[in-house]
Amino acid sequence: MASKLLIAAALGLAAGAGAAFLASRMPEAPQPAAAGRVAIGGPFSLIDQTGQRRTEKDYAGKPMLVFFGFTNCPDVCPSGLQTLTVALDKLGPKAEGLSPLFISVDPERDTPEALAQYVKSFHPRIIGLTGTPEDIKAVVKAYRVYAVKVADEKDPTRYSVDHSSFFYLMDANGQYLKHFPHSVDANVLADALAAAL
Ligand code: NI
Repeated sequence: MASKLLIAAALGLAAGAGAAFLASRMPEAPQPAAAGRVAIGGPFSLIDQTGQRRTEKDYAGKPMLVFFGFTNCPDVCPSGLQTLTVALDKLGPKAEGLSPLFISVDPERDTPEALAQYVKSFHPRIIGLTGTPEDIKAVVKAYRVYAVKVADEKDPTRYSVDHSSFFYLMDANGQYLKHFPHSVDANVLADALAAAL
């Protein structure tokens, strides 16, 4: 009996490790679409941190830097947003020419109010976007983001969200230009943003 339990525990661990491995591998780096244009991004309809409904048209005319995450994220989002903050500070007034968007993958908990508190703790120019679960599902799909809710093993009433964490740099027409890992150096990110402006 004890050995069966041990085997079950070992299998559980292996399954967990496999899932973590898969999560670390996903998504694959964006691939060019048949037409030579990368099929990342597109129309969206979301709610900003002031409660206003926003679409991609509201941000047209400026390059967008799009980052997906959630306000309860323990490490990846805070470090990515900190890097973005340093990069925006480095750009100074030029950052006005850019729309940095933080889109929630946790619409249940990330209300506009929660997002407002969160993004302002990083940089005043960062725009927080959330929406209905359907709104979020659509934008996650458009940007080919990996985001999966994971229950807390110790407390089933709590959960986290495993998610991919690229910054997507989109041009002023909303077309994909390039992406960066959340661990990108802030100077590299700032230089790329400056080049896109
Ligand atoms: Ni995160």
